Amino acid sequence: MSRIYLLLAWLCALSATATPKIFHPGELWPDNRGQHIQAHGGGILKIGPTFYWFGEDRGQTNGRGLRCVSCYSSTNLAQWTFRNQVFKTRNPENFGRGWVLERPKVFYNPKTKKFVMYMHIDGPNPGEIGGYKLARVGVATCDTVDGDYQYLKSFRPLGHESRDIGQFVDDDGTAYLIFEDRPFGFRIAKLSEDYLIVEKEICLIAEHMEGGAIVHYEGLYYVLGSALTGWNPNPNKYATAKSLAGPWSEFKDLAPPEKNTYGAQSTMLLKISGTKTNSVVFMGDIWKPQSQWDSRYLWLPLEIGGGKLRLPEPKKWSLDIVTGEAKNEQ
Ligand code: GAL
Repeated sequence: MSRIYLLLAWLCALSATATPKIFHPGELWPDNRGQHIQAHGGGILKIGPTFYWFGEDRGQTNGRGLRCVSCYSSTNLAQWTFRNQVFKTRNPENFGRGWVLERPKVFYNPKTKKFVMYMHIDGPNPGEIGGYKLARVGVATCDTVDGDYQYLKSFRPLGHESRDIGQFVDDDGTAYLIFEDRPFGFRIAKLSEDYLIVEKEICLIAEHMEGGAIVHYEGLYYVLGSALTGWNPNPNKYATAKSLAGPWSEFKDLAPPEKNTYGAQSTMLLKISGTKTNSVVFMGDIWKPQSQWDSRYLWLPLEIGGGKLRLPEPKKWSLDIVTGEAKNEQ
């Protein structure tokens, strides 16, 4: 009896891992509750085998004036469990009505054992007086990955304007923030030991870009970003360098420019290190400015290597999280 039970349990576990978990780029993406995932402009943090996805929660039922960040977890990147609205705040420093919280990114600091959230904090939306003029990062921390993050402060990193932010943790564990400093370009800066300060500039990439993301792949750094067209899509571009400090190559198109990145804007490049291969996933947002809660996600495996990066045409696909292999699905 117990042998049969064990066999059944084993077969169930096997089918759960063997069934391909299919990604549906651009479609509604329901969480474990059947609700469309609210993690826009987001980022991923991996702890052990679990991925945590943090992003802007633009849910329609969020209270007026509240700005929210939600966290979801997954072990296969396709099926997500809602964990918590980890950050929820009403105008913490009197930024003005209609203030902005965008593109939250969470780092785990192994020394302090704190989870540290960076976010773009700004004044009211464009069109309103003072819109997007503060250009700061906000910082919030928590002792657990999906607990209630406590707001600490906001500042301009190294004294510079900062709007869209991206996160990058290098192979040696060093944490970096990529931020858009208009009109100069992307700045890549190292965080302090406790991650609470943006400590040292590593590079200024003098291109007018935002939605910054970086991946390190086979000895090369790839930086990716979009043009400055607000919520409207544009041809995202990438450059490469042997060191984060540069020199960076010229920027090239990620996809045929007339496709406008298939309607998406970059938010992160996620490397999956598998037993057979390393895949890199493009994570982008398809914004719907009039109904932000319905904004979609475009996640696709990139063709990468030898200094080239290509975003394929969106199709259903699946990822074997163990081997790292991605393939198209019908
Ligand atoms: C985009 C940016 C978004 C948001 C939007 C507002 O360019 O990437 O995060 O700030 O502009 O118009």
